[in-house]
Order: sequence, then C-alpha cells, then structure tokens
Amino acid sequence: MIKVVPGPASRRLGASLAEELKTSVLEVESKVFPDGESYVRLKGEVAGEEVVVVQSCYPPQDKHLIELLLLVKTIKELGARKVITAVPYLAYSRQDKRFLEGEAVSGRVVLELIGLAGADALLTVDVHSEALLEKLSFKAVNVSAMPLIARYLSQLRLLNPFILSPDKKRAREAGLVASLLNTDHGYLEKVRDLSTGEVKTMVKGLPVEGRDVVIVDDIISTGGTIANAASIVKSQGARRVLAACTHPILAKGAEERMRKAGIEEIIGTDAVESHVSRVSVAPALAEALRKL
Ligand code: R5P
Repeated sequence: MIKVVPGPASRRLGASLAEELKTSVLEVESKVFPDGESYVRLKGEVAGEEVVVVQSCYPPQDKHLIELLLLVKTIKELGARKVITAVPYLAYSRQDKRFLEGEAVSGRVVLELIGLAGADALLTVDVHSEALLEKLSFKAVNVSAMPLIARYLSQLRLLNPFILSPDKKRAREAGLVASLLNTDHGYLEKVRDLSTGEVKTMVKGLPVEGRDVVIVDDIISTGGTIANAASIVKSQGARRVLAACTHPILAKGAEERMRKAGIEEIIGTDAVESHVSRVSVAPALAEALRKL
C-alpha cells in the first residue's frame, strides 16, 4: 500500500489524498533556521515502500522546491522502493523556453533537479507547458483539474453559463468545462509584454449578453489576465462574471484588481492552498496514481 508524505506546502492536500487512497500519512517536521535555510525531518519508516511526496511549489517557490528536493532525496536514501512526487503547481513552468537571448529555461532546470533528487515519477496538475514534461529521465504525468472544477460549477446556480478562456492557449480547458456543463465556450487573445509583463487582451464580440460568464485559466497570479477579460465581457452585457482556476497564486493586489473589473467570485483548487481553494485535486491525483 502506497504511503503519502504531505510536504509542508501541501499538508491539507496530502491528507485528502491519503483519504482518497485509504492509506496512511507519514508526518514531516519542518522549520526554517534563523538564516532562512529549510529543515525537514521525515517521521516514519519508508524502507521498501512505495511513497508519494505531495508538495506543491507555489510561492515561496524556492523554499517549497528545496523542501521537496530534501524530502525526495531523504526518502530515497532511507530505502524507499519507489518515490512519486506529486507537485500540483510546478514552479517556473511558465519559463518553458528561452523567450529572450540568455534567459534560463527555469522550468526545465526544476524538473531536472526533481529527477536528480531521485524521483521515479512526477504528477502535476494543469501544468503551464506540457512540452516541459517531454524527454525526462522519469515518467511525468499531467492531470487535469478541469472536470473537478466543472463539477463544482455545476452546483452553483449559474444562469445560462458561458465559459471563457482569456487566452487562446487555454481554449481546450474552457471547452472541456463547457462540455461537462453542457454549454458553449469561447476564447480571447492576449499579448504579454515580455519585459514589463503587462497584458493586453484583444476585444472581440462574444455571446455573453445577460449570461453568467466563467473565465477559466490555469493560473491566476497578478489577476491582470482575468481582469482584462472580465472588463470585456462586462462591457458586452454579461450578467455575472466568475473566475475559476487550478492555481490561485493570487499575488498581492490580484483580488482587488479582479473585483474592480467585476469578478464576483474566485474559485481555485488546493493545488495552491489558499482561501479560495474550494475544489480539491485529490481525487484526480488518486486516479492518476492508481493508473501509474
Ligand atoms: C498565462 O499564459 C497563463 O495561462 C495565465 O493566464 C497567467 O499566468 C495569468 O497571470 P496573471 O494573473 O498575472 O495575468
């Protein structure tokens, strides 16, 4: 029976995953030394066991990543038979290529570090770039939280919902949610200034008049992408506008920015533990683990 090790960043999700798998949790003690260095200590036996380490790498990404690497390496050294890393939010995955000359391909470096620490497999959720998961020395599986988000949305009393992706790249996710809700979807197109990070969204006509619009994205960080999309659908007569995402990073000022643009509700998952994490990705991780 697989054992679950919830890392310091994903204690709640780790516990939910263990519950889904009907298995036990191995506790981790963690602290930060006065100089800022991280300490982890595994409490329990792993020799000969198959173990899943659950540690999402949302902000502070570097701290969470180091904790993950320390745990994986330690569990391997203590004789685990197989170590699967469940990293719902894969830090740095937006830097999946060299956009500008001389940039680090940080997403790739992170994955290589996880492999070097001893991971035999990786599960992640709605990774920003699936291309990053190719050609690794270990098996990497991307899991979609969209069916779980759709199930949550189906319990809300939405009026003739329209599912919108704020970016062409996420149109597939919006389509999946829309099909599960038996409704239609659309997408906007956005351009991001690579130096300033500023987002511009192209305006186009959408069938949103008098309807509830759910804007679906993988990540909400500054909230700029969602705010732009919300202003557009509001100006086109949308009745209510909600935002749903897998990774509610919610950088400082993001919620206010989105509310000002007319977002009434923000729905996120526990891939990033936050006060808007209303949907658990544990069932999707459990299903992927059973298939591994
Ligand atoms: C980008 O392509 C992603 O899918 C998200 O749209 C983006 O990361 C959201 O960032 P922000 O909230 O800062 O606009």
